[in-house]
Amino acid sequence: MRQRTHEGFLRHKGFRWAQIATLLCLVVVAVYFFVAARLAEPPSGGSWLGYTLGTISAGLIVWLACLGIRKRVITAGHYSLKAWVSAHVYLGLSLTVLATLHTGFQFGWNVHTLAYVLMMLVIASGALGIWAYATLPQRLHGNRGETTRKQMLEAIESLDKQLHDLAQPLDRAGAQVVRLSLEQTEIGGGFWRRLTGAHGDCANLRAMRKLKQLPAPATPRQAEALARIETVLQQKADVLGLARRQMQITALLEGWLFVHIPATFALLAALTAHVVSVFTYW
Ligand code: HEM
Ligand code: HEM
Repeated sequence: MRQRTHEGFLRHKGFRWAQIATLLCLVVVAVYFFVAARLAEPPSGGSWLGYTLGTISAGLIVWLACLGIRKRVITAGHYSLKAWVSAHVYLGLSLTVLATLHTGFQFGWNVHTLAYVLMMLVIASGALGIWAYATLPQRLHGNRGETTRKQMLEAIESLDKQLHDLAQPLDRAGAQVVRLSLEQTEIGGGFWRRLTGAHGDCANLRAMRKLKQLPAPATPRQAEALARIETVLQQKADVLGLARRQMQITALLEGWLFVHIPATFALLAALTAHVVSVFTYW
């Protein structure tokens, strides 16, 4: 459902905003090179064209940043949220052309270029968000098949119960290995861990390794228990893998906004500093 809504905003009204943004870029590129051809140096941020493009870019950035407020005010009808997001995406992308031409391709280690880099970061994270919305819900479904999150957790709980029962005939060292998997396995973890899917030190995995290093079992009953434990630990590892991939996809779906929003605030601050500084040193 979510995917359809997002496809919807990309195609909104037969790509109307894509067309407007493309036209805007073409006009600006044409004017820029028309003016540049008549000057000794390319028009910089300080030329009349630079000021025009800078003002348009800054206006767009402030408007794009208002989407956060707009999202929280629900209205249907003519100025629907879908139209806003559609315009947001395409006009946001057009900034790569408008702001770049504003700079006259003059970059350096200063607050002006900082504003530019932050803008590019916001745009890149937005593009990542579009990719996430367009592809990840399908992957989420493909990974999980018909298994729900609740069923995965129940499966892990049931495997843990089996492990607990199977550990009864074991000696201390064997019981410790089982306890490691039972007590220290973390399914998810912090946001970063969920996002990267780095679970190399998973307690269940360590238990599987340690099980192989145990001394030979003293009785046939213990030997049988250990063999069955090995199978159950493997089953647990499979369910954990599935649940963690699920979490990774969900983290990716939200993760890009953790860059997009803070970078927007940083961009507004750097942009203010840029504009204030060019007027101060004018
Ligand atoms: C009201 C809007 C803006 C105004 C009035 C403005 C003004 C200026 C001026 C006067 C310059 C020339 C500075 C110089 O030659 O030393 C300049 C350069 C520049 N501007 Fe803007 N700007 C605006 C918006 C933006 C935006 C939105 C960005 C990018 C996010 C941006 C990034 C830059 C960069 C990277 C340069 C080149 C700096 C350099 O020469 O090292 N500006 N701007
Ligand atoms: C400098 C340019 C941009 C700024 C300042 C900006 C800023 C924002 C802000 C403040 C939000 C609201 C987030 C929230 O409150 O949840 C937002 C949402 C969003 N932005 Fe941007 N953005 C920019 C460019 C882009 C670009 C180029 C794209 C795509 C290629 C994009 C894609 C999105 C998407 C998909 C959303 C979420 C909309 C939704 O939840 O339905 N943004 N942006």
